[in-house]
Amino acid sequence: MKALLIREYGGPEQLTLEEVGLPSPKSNEVLIKVHAAGVNPIDFKIRNGSIKAISGSKFPKVLGADVAGMVEQNSKHFRVGDKVFAMLNLKGGAYAEYVSVKESQLAKIPDGFGFAEAAAVPLAALTAFQSFKKAAVKGGSRVLINGASGGVGSFAVQIAKAMGAYVVGITSKRNVDLVRNLGADEVIDYTFSDFTQSTHKYDMVFDAVATSSFKKCKRLLEPNGFYITTVPNHGLLWHRFFNLIRSKKAHFIMVKPLGNDLKILAEWMAQGKLKPVIDAVFPLKEGARAHQVLEMGRTRGKLVLEVVPSEEKLQAEAGVVKA
Ligand SMILES: NC(=O)c1ccc[n+]([C@@H]2O[C@H](COP(=O)([O-])OP(=O)(O)OC[C@H]3O[C@@H](n4cnc5c(N)ncnc54)[C@H](OP(=O)(O)O)[C@@H]3O)[C@@H](O)[C@H]2O)c1
Repeated sequence: MKALLIREYGGPEQLTLEEVGLPSPKSNEVLIKVHAAGVNPIDFKIRNGSIKAISGSKFPKVLGADVAGMVEQNSKHFRVGDKVFAMLNLKGGAYAEYVSVKESQLAKIPDGFGFAEAAAVPLAALTAFQSFKKAAVKGGSRVLINGASGGVGSFAVQIAKAMGAYVVGITSKRNVDLVRNLGADEVIDYTFSDFTQSTHKYDMVFDAVATSSFKKCKRLLEPNGFYITTVPNHGLLWHRFFNLIRSKKAHFIMVKPLGNDLKILAEWMAQGKLKPVIDAVFPLKEGARAHQVLEMGRTRGKLVLEVVPSEEKLQAEAGVVKA
């Protein structure tokens, strides 16, 4: 099968499309024919070696933590031809024609969603959902989301709304309408005003892009409020200790590839409460270009790699005009 892989750490040019062996699923795994793979910042952080302490020195590495595709073999809970999506473990593998996935990480793609849309969902949406569960967000909670237009943030706004929260989204001017259309009750343009100086109080500040800090956001929190960030820093190690003795909590989220959480997100997708924002779709062989775009840090929603071109794309290429 073909896979987009790296043989050493470095720039986007390290990504090369090569022929590799098919994965052999273990007894608790399902072989998936990949149709689309989501692209996440963790992919370029692994590629450039900035988290090599975690990603290790074993090469080649097939990147990609988000997959959408079709089941190739019957298993306990899935049948050949089922359309499924999943977040993979840190070792990745989605930038390929086939991947083995634990059954416990899979969920069925709801009707009405294509593979590219489904591949955009797992890692980013699970990050937001698991953060809100940690902060016990519920109906009536006031949630502030920093980075509301990005991969994680664009899901965070919709998920917080689905959980019944009042949502304030932080983004720059060009994305204000996008964030409002995702359902945010208020949107603050960070290029115009510093949200950390607001006099309003929140049950949770979700720093999806980790450009702020607990120190700056503490004053925004209600007495039992949570600050949760997506990128760890040294200070957060101290906060783990201080969290035991103070009411306002500071945490870092480490997303887990839980199929049961993804099934809840799939239900919200089916109910029209959750819809991925897709900034661009690239063919698998152009994964390096997708990395270059994502690393610029200006993506609106998600980038996706298409491994099997969608029906619409094939029809457009063949010049088929829809009636
Ligand atoms: N710990 C975990 O489990 C976990 C899971 C997922 C992601 N992450 C991390 O979370 C971070 C965000 O991921 P992502 O997928 O959302 O990234 P992303 O899609 O690349 O984020 C891009 C967005 O960030 C916004 N942005 C950039 N600077 C900003 C600022 N100063 N204030 C507010 N918004 C700003 C941009 O909007 P503008 O153009 O309008 O500025 C853009 O829409 C990454 O570092 C990623 O590695 C961690």
